[in-house]
Amino acid sequence: MKPDEKGAPPDVRVYPNARALADAAAAEIVAQARASIAARGRFTIALSGGSTPRPIYELLGTRHASDIQWERTHVFFGDERCVSPDDARSNYAMAHEALLARVAVAPARVHRMYEANDPPQGAAERYETLLRATFGDEGPTFDVALQGVGADGHTASLIPGDPAVDEMARWVLAVRAPDTFEVRDRLTLTPVCLNRSRVVLFVATGESKRGVVARVLGSGSAPAQTLPAARLHGMDGTRWLLDASAAPASA
Ligand code: 6PG
Repeated sequence: MKPDEKGAPPDVRVYPNARALADAAAAEIVAQARASIAARGRFTIALSGGSTPRPIYELLGTRHASDIQWERTHVFFGDERCVSPDDARSNYAMAHEALLARVAVAPARVHRMYEANDPPQGAAERYETLLRATFGDEGPTFDVALQGVGADGHTASLIPGDPAVDEMARWVLAVRAPDTFEVRDRLTLTPVCLNRSRVVLFVATGESKRGVVARVLGSGSAPAQTLPAARLHGMDGTRWLLDASAAPASA
């Protein structure tokens, strides 16, 4: 399948609560890591920011700390807020605290997107160079791209209406989010890059996400293709892990 093709319908799984969803997501990442290492000798994952992944990272950093071969794992990010990596708002800082500081991953295998005071445009170009050097211009990128979704349909830092959503060439862009976002200057991978992932793994919890999940999964009335989250499809599959309160009635 080409990265711009939609592929099979998403695989949707609903769990009774956010805790059960976190357990399932962590177990899914462990299973993907094992399968990737068995098949190709390494596991590559793009992490998401936001609050939903944090309990998943904590489980990976505690209960599952020895279940992944970290010396064969390469960690990337799907998006980043342009703040210092030790700023509490940084996606890297959150992932570091919840997961990366707790496991035996070599710092050289953790590829954060943004350093303090870097001009965003240059940081985006450097990250794209890194990704292309790691994965090559053809073929798959990440074994797993973990994605959250905003109530407005954004995912990574792909904001509805932003030209980055329709970018067909560049893999990484600097974007400016609306003032409702905690940090406006951001870096994001584009759909053309994220859609080279083998598995796109969405996680969403809570009632505030139910409407957008229904729209993305096609059971709402608004045309889903305007929503960035509806643009992402893994080459081997797209999974949506939801808790009961985020799940539309039809899921
Ligand atoms: C970010 C994200 C973003 C996030 C969604 C959902 O940097 O903010 O990567 O796309 O995943 O906004 O966030 P919550 O999990 O906090 O609802």
